[in-house]
Amino acid sequence: MKNSFGQSITVTLFGESHSPYIGAVVDSFAPGVIVDEEVIRAALNKRRPRGAGETQRRESDEFRIVSGAVGGRTTGTPLCLLIPNTDVKSEDYESFSSLARPSHADFTAEAKYHGFQDKRGGGHFSGRLTAALVAVGAIARQMLGQKGVYLGTHVLSLGGVRDVKFTDAEREVKDIASMDFPVLSPVEDEMLSRVEEARKDGDSVGGVTETAIVGLEPGLGEPWFDSIESVLSHALFSIGGIKGVQFGAGFAFGEMNGSEANDAFYVDGGKIKTKTNNNGGINGGITNGMPIIFSCAVKPTPSISKEQDTVDYVKGENARMRISGRHDPAIIRRVCPVIDAVCALTIADMLAARYGTDYFCGAKK
Ligand SMILES: Cc1cc2nc3c(=O)[nH]c(=O)nc-3n(C[C@H](O)[C@H](O)[C@H](O)COP(=O)(O)O)c2cc1C
Repeated sequence: MKNSFGQSITVTLFGESHSPYIGAVVDSFAPGVIVDEEVIRAALNKRRPRGAGETQRRESDEFRIVSGAVGGRTTGTPLCLLIPNTDVKSEDYESFSSLARPSHADFTAEAKYHGFQDKRGGGHFSGRLTAALVAVGAIARQMLGQKGVYLGTHVLSLGGVRDVKFTDAEREVKDIASMDFPVLSPVEDEMLSRVEEARKDGDSVGGVTETAIVGLEPGLGEPWFDSIESVLSHALFSIGGIKGVQFGAGFAFGEMNGSEANDAFYVDGGKIKTKTNNNGGINGGITNGMPIIFSCAVKPTPSISKEQDTVDYVKGENARMRISGRHDPAIIRRVCPVIDAVCALTIADMLAARYGTDYFCGAKK
């Protein structure tokens, strides 16, 4: 399934940056799941660009659910959500339609789709499509909330400016839920100055996010191929610009002794917990009941206005290019709600696979 993901709750993503609509089909949420359009709108607002430092493409994201939900509840049949593209400027891309924007997907799209791809605004590879993921992810997030599962993502670092890590994830995911720029310490202004510096310099910056998923019982996941790490990473690497995912202490394990790395078990009020959480809540591919913690490396936005070396892939010639158009000098803030959406869909799918789709079924009418 090239544009679909999931086993029991399958998401298909469609559309292009400048097509009339983008959207998602979810096959299928359980019947009776609450579809609160205000909650979807709030999630889309978090992904929307804001301020001078983010893309000037301003879409209202007036979504429509055209099937699969009636009267604020899912029906149990495929849910199709459409979002129109209204603020489209295809002429920005005409001058370099066969020049490969470095670090973007123009050359690989040409190799895969033999010139038939929609090149306008990055076509199917555009970050614009993540709006549809955020919208259907908001429904999945509500489903999880009803089962006591919460999640949240903050900007752990941006262009070298660092936030602190989660220490009390259960409380902290709730604290960041209402923030447009989710951070755990007061580093937003410094991060925004760093973005502004990059923008003035015609450049872009990358960063790292940190996500926590709390409230999962021990026992979710599979050994080997469908470990929680495998399935979540599969979904996370679908988000354009994410180039690294690490669980718990991740690459820092390489510099630890076992005595530092091991998470000692203890019993607290009848519940088995670990004193540290270096393993990010996962042992043997299966949840151990501690919060799942992981970080994602987000590369600097490929589109920069500095002149760059490239090729004309139709003529097969070297070329120079300067990218015009509307772009984010840093996408990391906007990636946070996308990560949340992808996680919610993935965890909902894994729970539905374990307990059956009706696990999320609303009360009988
Ligand atoms: C929310 C979001 C917004 C994005 N905005 C831009 C952008 O304005 N300009 C750009 O060059 N890339 C942007 N990207 C990143 C590209 O989509 C991505 O780097 C590209 O498709 C290549 O994929 P890869 O980086 O995974 O190899 C955005 C990604 C996301 C998730």
